[in-house]
Amino acid sequence: MPNNILTSPLRYPGSKSSLTDYIAAIIEENLLSGCTIYEPYAGSAVVSLEMLQRGYAQNAVLVERDPLVYAFWRAVFSCGEELCEKIKELEVTIETWDQFQRFRAIDDPAGHSILELGLAGLFYNRTNFSGIIGAGPIGGYSQSSNYRIDCRFNKARIIQQIRDLQHLKNRVSVIFSDALEFMKKYEEEIENGFSFVYIDPPYYTQGKRLYRYYYDDYDHQRLAEYILSKQFPWLLSYDDHPVIRKLYARAPLQPIYVDYSAKTSRRGNELLISNLVIPPLSLDSPKCEIEAC
Ligand SMILES: C[S@@+](CC[C@H](N)C(=O)[O-])C[C@H]1O[C@@H](n2cnc3c(N)ncnc32)[C@H](O)[C@@H]1O
Repeated sequence: MPNNILTSPLRYPGSKSSLTDYIAAIIEENLLSGCTIYEPYAGSAVVSLEMLQRGYAQNAVLVERDPLVYAFWRAVFSCGEELCEKIKELEVTIETWDQFQRFRAIDDPAGHSILELGLAGLFYNRTNFSGIIGAGPIGGYSQSSNYRIDCRFNKARIIQQIRDLQHLKNRVSVIFSDALEFMKKYEEEIENGFSFVYIDPPYYTQGKRLYRYYYDDYDHQRLAEYILSKQFPWLLSYDDHPVIRKLYARAPLQPIYVDYSAKTSRRGNELLISNLVIPPLSLDSPKCEIEAC
């Protein structure tokens, strides 16, 4: 079992890799170490994978609505070595980008090869601008820029990351579903289990630009109504927007801002909400800041 901190093979828009220490602290503070972590908007799944790797969670349930992202995770944990072989053979070219377009048209993975879909998911994630699966290729269609389509596709590294994840395969479930439907369907199991639910829905403002599946106002409202009525331990992260603040205003919650992007000077752009005790963060930390409220 590798001791190094896992990194997800996906370069994901809105990845919460910088929040993992904080989330680990929340789990620990609330005596939830060893829980099953549910991540109903999985994306890069970096939070669940790190909680597993670092012993804060015993099991993880990853739920994702984008068929290509879902299939990638499913392939990693059900046929990881075959996926690695496919990656080795893959030609990272604009021709492959074109050929794989047929996979982007699929809305439901049922009846399709998980291996092919998962490979396509990884391919678009690592060849498109900012890892956005619905975007265009790095370097543009003409490939006339200095940055080419394969500049983020380090095969050896990706394969190593997938192999490093294999020791977790019996502890991870990957489910294709709408997040809210999933939580409602498995509510009893979540409620009665030793559970922690980390909810990172599509951003309110940028969701449509970043993800192929995103929420409108009604969806954000339905999520708020549902989650605010739940007793199981949950943590939610959002972009800080007045609409989101209003949706969660009636909850006795402590908003916390985290500048999780160490690479930029952005501050106070994220909102964390939870029905758990939020551990104090070091105000010396360059990344985190608690709002007094
Ligand atoms: C903000 S991103 C999650 C990022 C993730 N926490 C990370 O660290 O990489 C939101 C994710 O929700 C997915 N998504 C969008 N609509 C969904 C839905 N109705 N049900 C489940 N997942 C959905 C998107 O495809 C995207 O992967």
